[in-house]
Amino acid sequence: MVRLGLIGLGKMGVSHLAIMRTHPDAELVAVCDTTRYVIDTLAKYTGVEVYSDYKRMLREKQLDGVVIATPSRFHAEMVRDALEHGVHVFCEKPFCLDPDVGQRLADLARQRGLVNQVGYHYRFVSAFREAKRLIDGGALGRLHHFRAEAYGPVVLRPKNSTWRASKSEGGGCLYDYASHAIDLVNFLLGEPERVGGTVLNTIFSRDVEDEVYATLFLAGGVTGQIAANWSEDSHRKMSTKMSFWGTNGRLTVDRQETQLYVRDPSVASIPLKAGWTMSYTTGLSENQAFYLRGEEYSAQIDHFVRAIASGDTDTVSTFATAVATDRVAAMMKRDAAGLPEPAAASGLVASGSAAVSSPLPPSATLVRPVRAPWPALFRRARALVS
Ligand SMILES: NC(=O)c1ccc[n+]([C@@H]2O[C@H](COP(=O)([O-])OP(=O)(O)OC[C@H]3O[C@@H](n4cnc5c(N)ncnc54)[C@H](O)[C@@H]3O)[C@@H](O)[C@H]2O)c1
Repeated sequence: MVRLGLIGLGKMGVSHLAIMRTHPDAELVAVCDTTRYVIDTLAKYTGVEVYSDYKRMLREKQLDGVVIATPSRFHAEMVRDALEHGVHVFCEKPFCLDPDVGQRLADLARQRGLVNQVGYHYRFVSAFREAKRLIDGGALGRLHHFRAEAYGPVVLRPKNSTWRASKSEGGGCLYDYASHAIDLVNFLLGEPERVGGTVLNTIFSRDVEDEVYATLFLAGGVTGQIAANWSEDSHRKMSTKMSFWGTNGRLTVDRQETQLYVRDPSVASIPLKAGWTMSYTTGLSENQAFYLRGEEYSAQIDHFVRAIASGDTDTVSTFATAVATDRVAAMMKRDAAGLPEPAAASGLVASGSAAVSSPLPPSATLVRPVRAPWPALFRRARALVS
């Protein structure tokens, strides 16, 4: 049995709790949350051991792995503490608000040989995995353009008092919604080299953006657009869709199905037929031990448990791949603010360059303030008067 702990028992943590408690090869040993009534209720009705201080839980319990599902600004410090206790870590997305910090944690996990995974669950949706198989198999010929979209109803009125409404806590549509779409671009096509025309608009929120639009530029001349809007209640829950155009056809994928149009099947390295082929999630998905919110949430925890049991640290969604996603989000923030890319932005911190014992700066500097978009405003003002 893999001995697991869980930190954070909110919306996402409670989902993880249900999945972890029913996993046949895992034992949920202890949970931690700072909200008293949450842990009191859990202790009363489930009998699981509860903590209000995660550091104490890490010290007192011999955990194999921990799942971290706290508001995003806490991720970095909690991940570091868990890794330093020699505990394998599954952390919710977005990984870290500062990609440099995230890179140092990825290095630390690698140096310690610990399993590391981030909750980009779309990588476990069977339709997106099928899309990867088709793209990697050359179904589209030379791919030249894509579109990644994510819509859903999170912020539908001006008043919003949770951490999601606060920039410094990791709130906003970029981290909450667009990060999933960025991660899918990275997963399916590779990391963009640069971004342009980024728009971070508010609709109802005061401190964070509610919609995100940008153009992404990838190696080999591939371009794409990203669009995310979390104030969109024509969708009952978050809906993510990707479309790809290539010299040999077109592919559209969402969590429900893949729609593939192929001009010439012979150019691909996998068997295909000409014209349209549809595949549905019902036919593509493997059975899960416990079904909650789709197969992907269970599949990613199952993947984490299996990785711990086998010692295989090469998970589908590692800290390193999540840092790549954080890097693109950071590029989009700089682009929207009219700030230049720092010289080392694409490579960032060289692997292994940070001290293993201290992967984080002092906690006060963990969350970098977002700089005001003055340069962009000045440029626009100058353009207006000239
Ligand atoms: N993958 C997904 O689809 C998905 C969906 C929702 C949320 N998330 C991510 O999951 C994380 C949590 O989001 P949420 O919606 O569950 O938030 P939430 O506000 O519903 O829950 C957060 C919980 O963390 C607890 N907490 C706060 N500080 C703590 C501390 N120091 N120690 C222990 N517990 C603490 C809070 O009391 C609360 O119960 C975020 O990073 C978010 O981006 C991912």
